[in-house]
Amino acid sequence: MKNFKFKLDYVREQFPCLCKTVNGLPAAFLDGPGGSQVPRRVVDRISDYMFYRNANGHGCFVTSEETMALQQEGRETLAAFFNCKPNEVIFGESSSTNNFKLALALARDMKPGDEVIITDIDHESNRSPMRTLEEQGIIVKSVKIDLSTYTLDLDDYKKKLSPRTKVVAINWAANATGTITDVKTMIKMAHEVGALTIIDAVHYAPHKVIDVKDIDADFMVCSAYKFFGPHIGVMYAKAEVLDKVRTIRVLADDNTQVPEKFETGTPNYEHICGCAGAIDFIADIGSKHEEFFIEELEGLSGKRKNIVAGMLAIHAYEEPIAAKLRMGLREIEGVTLYGPPEGYDRTGTVSFTIAGKNSHDVAVFLAERGIFVWDGDFYAIEITNHVLNLGDQGGLVRVGLAPYNTIEDIDRTIQAVADFCK
Ligand SMILES: Cc1ncc(COP(=O)(O)O)c(C=O)c1O
Repeated sequence: MKNFKFKLDYVREQFPCLCKTVNGLPAAFLDGPGGSQVPRRVVDRISDYMFYRNANGHGCFVTSEETMALQQEGRETLAAFFNCKPNEVIFGESSSTNNFKLALALARDMKPGDEVIITDIDHESNRSPMRTLEEQGIIVKSVKIDLSTYTLDLDDYKKKLSPRTKVVAINWAANATGTITDVKTMIKMAHEVGALTIIDAVHYAPHKVIDVKDIDADFMVCSAYKFFGPHIGVMYAKAEVLDKVRTIRVLADDNTQVPEKFETGTPNYEHICGCAGAIDFIADIGSKHEEFFIEELEGLSGKRKNIVAGMLAIHAYEEPIAAKLRMGLREIEGVTLYGPPEGYDRTGTVSFTIAGKNSHDVAVFLAERGIFVWDGDFYAIEITNHVLNLGDQGGLVRVGLAPYNTIEDIDRTIQAVADFCK
């Protein structure tokens, strides 16, 4: 990748929200890990559906037929995003809901004494569904974090894996620290003992290329509202695995097959359209930056090629800005950063605390200056409150990058944190 230049103005002009001001200052949307902003084309897709095609599915009239066609188009677009087949794409309410439905379904074929592995670095969305199974006598073990690198302790994982392990649920990227986990290795190890794997890609999906076939996941969840789309959960399920799972479902003849057997109730068709629109937004970014990724894109074609180029461009843009942010914050006395050391694979999410200060007060101070960041545990409760013990301090302050952010957003953030510390 030589002389990479990101078409920032082209990207930014698609986000109406970027005209927002706070106390006369432009809003800096650094809240992406909680939910990204939405480009106009996504909302256009949703309103086009609601105004002109709105119907329930499976009818014999034109709006219902259009609805079914748009749902299929949504599956095809998300399949290109995941690198899987369209019938391996499932739409649902949210990643948390998809995780709970999956846990309940898998538990139907588990017995007391069977084991499940989760991790200390995960969001509760990926942990709680499994912990609920403890009520059925299923043993849940959580992999520790190596605090010298903020990565998962693979020796601890090895120790916890056994032929009794039925499911391993891990995140690909941690929403509290930006840590990227080598899920491919962990999935391989899980498969060696016959366990199924569930990958939480909610924080990973907005930042890096997803290839479910490469990592060989059995299930993977992500949420479109983190990657420029509406509030809808999307799940990948390996067809031959889901085929055998006894899903919890409405008992009707038209939903016995993959993927419908996992989708309960009337789908959120408008948000499926918006979700496909979000992926097309990423693909469009890709089509404008392909020249920088000739090697990485070799062998790819069509929408998949554009999507991969889009994600590579987004990461190539975000990473140096995130590095600048980390460097700037590190120089401020009293600031402690929490995340992998420089050189480790990570997302552009930067979390920190300020000695003797409550993280909520930091976030409020920044918000008054038009800088939107999150504070607290972000439901990554185990790492934030129990491993790092930051509960009394109000948890972490979390700054997240998206492709519509600017260097000025980062400079302002560093300056505002320095002012807060004075
Ligand atoms: C890493 C991670 N996993 C899961 C979730 C939950 O996703 P949803 O809100 O779609 O249930 C979040 C939400 O913040 C997250 O960051």
